[in-house]
Amino acid sequence: MNSKLGFAVLIVGLLAVPACDTEVVIPAATEFSRPPLLAPDSMDIDAEGNRTLDFSLTMQRGKTEFIPGRPASTMGINGDFLGPVVRVSRGDTVNFHVQNKLGELTTLHWHGLHIPPDVDGGPHQQIAADTTWSPSFTIDNRAGLYWFHPHLEGLTGRHVYNGLAGLMIIDDEEEGALDLPRSYGVDDIPIIVQDRRIDEDGNLLYMNEFTDHTGMRGRSVLVNGKHTPPLGVPAQRIRLRILNASNARFYNLGFSDSRNFQVIASDGGLLAQPVTQTRLRIGSGERYEIVVDLTDMRGKTIEMQSFSSELGFSGAGFDELDGTTFPIMTLEVGTPTATVAGPVPQTLSVIPELKTSIQNTRSFVVRMGVGGVMTINNKTMKMSRIDETVFLGDTEEWVLRNASGVPHPIHIHDVQFRVLSRRQGAPLPYETGWKDTVVLGPRETVRVQMTFEDFANPDVPYMYHCHILEHEDRGMMGQFLVVNRN
Ligand code: C2O
Ligand code: CU
Ligand code: CU
Repeated sequence: MNSKLGFAVLIVGLLAVPACDTEVVIPAATEFSRPPLLAPDSMDIDAEGNRTLDFSLTMQRGKTEFIPGRPASTMGINGDFLGPVVRVSRGDTVNFHVQNKLGELTTLHWHGLHIPPDVDGGPHQQIAADTTWSPSFTIDNRAGLYWFHPHLEGLTGRHVYNGLAGLMIIDDEEEGALDLPRSYGVDDIPIIVQDRRIDEDGNLLYMNEFTDHTGMRGRSVLVNGKHTPPLGVPAQRIRLRILNASNARFYNLGFSDSRNFQVIASDGGLLAQPVTQTRLRIGSGERYEIVVDLTDMRGKTIEMQSFSSELGFSGAGFDELDGTTFPIMTLEVGTPTATVAGPVPQTLSVIPELKTSIQNTRSFVVRMGVGGVMTINNKTMKMSRIDETVFLGDTEEWVLRNASGVPHPIHIHDVQFRVLSRRQGAPLPYETGWKDTVVLGPRETVRVQMTFEDFANPDVPYMYHCHILEHEDRGMMGQFLVVNRN
């Protein structure tokens, strides 16, 4: 081909390529997706009744039709997009077999679990392509909603965005004894909220706009992988276990008639008492459980929405959607079931008094610099650098200061913590229980308290970081060791 003709062909070719990187808002899904409960490969019960369970998780590539008939390339765990629910009880020993069929390096982290650092699944526990990672540990968390997702340095955002995330529900005796909605998928429903940017061919777009380094956002809001789906629920009290697994977006959840609901649990399980709210702020990585009474709604529909304009966040890192109220899903209320949970008990759990004697205080300053540099204490994450060393058994206060104008959800591995104060005032009423992720508002200082128990390892660190995944991937992360004092 002569070069002139070649050039002409190239130009025509370029003109013929449709504008594929333009976002569209996809149609609402016609079905709700309930993540399947994962059956263990095997379960042993010893003479004392202790259970040992084996689970297989396969991280793989797949196709997902966010727009019917237009499949996108996605990633999933035992499926095409997202993963199954691993349901276990406190005290169980679990053996996971995590197979990496992605064709590239990754990790799998157990967000919120109190487990040794060498099985935590952070950036150091890499799983090479075509290998299987088999961590074992004992479940020692309170009943609640936890989750798992990749944590590879620099690539967490991309992997989670493509669909690698799943839920873990932990049960225990305390929670099991309460009269709460607990029929899985009927009146006890897991809700994974994520936003995605999708083009007209149905493909996921990631980091294709200049401002995306401040946090990847899209205008299509998915629940369990489906865009604003309809959820059929009975006319009674229902429980929603909500995870914000978005890369960056915050939500301010509520119902279209602004009815009351009760927050019963946070990241680390049950609150002391239910907290009545009409709105619930949830940053990426956070979990809350709510109970909403739909007895009066038989035959009607009601929307769950995000009243984002009321968040009071704006400016850099926020998009148009954040200035509005937008739908999350539609609840279609049918007839009540045979087992209807009564009013939420006024006492849910006992949250211990805060410790008055603490061994150490540390300060962390979160900053966003020019050119998108994301730092904690003026450092970006370095795999070979340990930032903090904590003594096993110590109770510490961490003072988390946000020196930027946008909020950051700060997550700490290993332990659940308590929120002491927010801007010198009290924490929000629904963050007075156990947390592993806490939102720092713009220029806000939040103090937290935690005790580092059980797991010391002089060689393998735990992570603390911003759970806006593009901030984390750009360095807003540090490492701490827990060591024995001597
Ligand atoms: Cu959900 Cu260190 O992450
Ligand atoms: Cu975590
Ligand atoms: Cu951040």
